[in-house]
Amino acid sequence: MSYPFQITSPEAYKSAYEKSIKDPEAFWSEIASSFFWRKRWDKVLNWDFKEPKIEWFKGGKLNITENCLDRHLGTLGNKPAIIWESNDPEEHHRVFTYRDLYNKVLQFANVLKNNGVKKGDRVCLYMGMIPELAIATLACARIGAVHSVIFGGFSAQSIADRLQDAQAGFIVTCDGAFRGNKEIALKTVIDDALVQCKFVKRVIVLMRTRTPISMIKGRDVWWEDEIKKVETMGNPDCPAEEMDAEDSLFILYTSGSTGKPKGVVHTVGGYMVYTTYSFVNVFQYQIGDVHFCTADIGWITGHSYIVYGPLCAGATTLIFEGIPTWPDAGRLWDVVDKHKVNILYTAPTAIRSLMGFGNEPLIGKDLSSLKVLGSVGEPINEEAWHWFDEKIGKKKCPIVDTWWQTETGGIMISNMARITPSKPSYATLPLPGIQPILVDENSKEIEGNEVSGNLCIRFPWPGILRTTYGDHERYRTNYFAPYDNLYFTGDGCYRDAEGNYRITGRVDDVLNVSGHRIGTAEVENAINMHTGVIESAVVGYPHDIKGQGIYAYVIFQNTHDDENLTRLDIIQTVSRVIGAIAKPDKVQFVSGLPKTRSGKIMRRILRKIAEGETENLGDTSTLLDPAIVDEIKMGRI
Ligand code: WTA
Repeated sequence: MSYPFQITSPEAYKSAYEKSIKDPEAFWSEIASSFFWRKRWDKVLNWDFKEPKIEWFKGGKLNITENCLDRHLGTLGNKPAIIWESNDPEEHHRVFTYRDLYNKVLQFANVLKNNGVKKGDRVCLYMGMIPELAIATLACARIGAVHSVIFGGFSAQSIADRLQDAQAGFIVTCDGAFRGNKEIALKTVIDDALVQCKFVKRVIVLMRTRTPISMIKGRDVWWEDEIKKVETMGNPDCPAEEMDAEDSLFILYTSGSTGKPKGVVHTVGGYMVYTTYSFVNVFQYQIGDVHFCTADIGWITGHSYIVYGPLCAGATTLIFEGIPTWPDAGRLWDVVDKHKVNILYTAPTAIRSLMGFGNEPLIGKDLSSLKVLGSVGEPINEEAWHWFDEKIGKKKCPIVDTWWQTETGGIMISNMARITPSKPSYATLPLPGIQPILVDENSKEIEGNEVSGNLCIRFPWPGILRTTYGDHERYRTNYFAPYDNLYFTGDGCYRDAEGNYRITGRVDDVLNVSGHRIGTAEVENAINMHTGVIESAVVGYPHDIKGQGIYAYVIFQNTHDDENLTRLDIIQTVSRVIGAIAKPDKVQFVSGLPKTRSGKIMRRILRKIAEGETENLGDTSTLLDPAIVDEIKMGRI
C-alpha cells in the first residue's frame, strides 16, 4: 500500500501547504478519496465558528473499521497489525496479524451486540494496556457504538461522573491491570463507581490479573464466557454498521480551566482522515515499520497514534503494557531492541525521567532499528531534546516535536521526519491544512515574526472536535467565544524569525503534569471536599521530571492534629475524588489568600511564589490584605 497523500520532499510540503490554504476543500477531498467509503460525501465542508457548527464529508457513508481492517486483509492479512509486549518481560509477547485482529474485533463486536449494545450507545472502556483494549475500541466502532475510554489512573468518583455525563450503560473492564510492580484493581474501582450509577446494565470483565473480584448476577459477565457464546453460535461475521461521516466515533474526557472535565466528541470521517494523514506524514511511515507509541490508550495520543492512525495506514503498532522504569530503567530500550522498533513516540516527562538514570541502562541495548523519534504532550526542554537525539537516536534519527490536543484529534504543528527540519524545543511548522495565528488580548492578530501571543487556528481541519458531549454551549464558550471567528487553543506561543512555532505552555488555568492535563479548578474542588478545608488555591510550578508540579495553598480550620498527617489526608482526598494523577506535590497551609477587593484570587502572585520568585511580585496594592503575601512567602515549601 502506498499513500497518495504522503509528502516526500520539502518542495512538496510547500506546495501542499499553499494548496491547502488556497483551496482547502479540494485539498482535503483529494486526501479523503484514498479511503474506503461506501458512499461518497455530499459536501466536503460546512462550517460556522460562530454557531459553532463544523461538518466534514457530510453524507459520506463509511465504517472506520473497514478502513482499519477489512481493506487491508488482501494485502496485509498476514502482516502484524499489533505487537503486544507484556508488563512482565518473562511473559511471551503476542502478535496479531491484520487477519487475527479482524477476527477478534468481529468476535467481540458480536459479544457487544449479544449484550444489547446498539448503534449510538455509549460504552465505557476502563482497562489496562492489553490488546483487548484496542479490540474493544474497534468492536465499538464496528457496530457504531460510541466508546469512551477512561485512563486507569482515574478514581471511582471520576468514573461515575463520566458515566453519568455520557449516560453510558455498558462497561468493559478487567479484573485488574499490571503496571510495573503494581496491580491496579480495576473492577473494584468500577464497583465503587457503580454504586452511584444504577443505569449501567452490563459490565464485561476480562481476566488479566486473576485478582479476586465481585461478579454481580444480572450485571457482570466474563469476557471469556461471552466469547464462547458467540463461538458456539458459529457465525464469526459482523457486518460493519454504516455510519455517516458526522456520526460520533468516541467521547474522550479532558480537563478544562473551569468545572468538571468535558467530553470531547470526535466523529468518524474527519477523525479517520486526519489521524491517518498526520500519522503517515509526520512520522513518514513506510509499510513494514514498527511504530511504538508509549502513551496510554486512555489518552488521545493512544487513540490517534496507537489505534486509529496506524491501523488505518496498515501499520504495525506496538502496545506496551508496562512502564519505562520497571523492572529497571532499561525496559523501554529492551522493547525497542526486542521488537526492532523503527519509530518511537514518547513524552518529555519519560525522556527526562530516563535521562536521570544516566547511560548505564543503555549498555548492551541495540537501538539501531530506530529511524524516527517523536515527542508529545508538553514542551520539550533542550537538555532532554539533546539527550534523546544523542543517546537514543545516535544523531541519525530526526525528532518530531508534535504539538496538538485532545480537541484537535491529531498532530497540528510539527516537523516532518526528514522532510522539514527540526529545531530543539520548537514544534516548528503547521501541517498542510492547518492555519495557526497568534493573537493578543484584544483579539488582534499579531503579524510578523519574532513575536509571542495566544495560539489560535483560523480555519477548520477534519480532526477538530465537533462538540462537548451534552453541552454545546460549553463548546462555544471554551473554544470559539474568546476570539472572533477563531478556534482558541489555550496555549501561548512564540514565532521565530523563520516562522517556526514554539509552544510556551497553557495560558489558562490548566496544568500539564507529566503530560496529563489537569484543571486547577478540579483539584481545588477536590481539596475543598476535605472536611477541614475552608478554601484552597492551586497553581503549577516547574518540576524537573513532571514538567509541572501541583502546588496547593490551603486555608484549614484550626486543628490539633499533626500538620503532616493533615497534609496526607488532603492528598488522599484528592486521590479519591479525581485519582492518583492529580495528587498535589506540595500543600502549604495559609491563613488567607491574596484576593482583590472584588474577591478574585490573584493567581499570578501565588504562581510566582510557588516558582520561588519572592521579589518582583508585581502590583499588590489592589489586594484586600497585602500583608497576606508576606505570610505566604515566609511559609513557602
Ligand atoms: C500541551 C496531548 C508543547 C499543550 C496530545 C496542549 C504541547 C496540551 C505539545 C494538550 C508539544 C501538547 N509542545 N506543548 N509538542 N503537545 N502540548 O489534550 O499545552 O492531553 O494544549 O493532548 O498539551 O494536551 P492533551
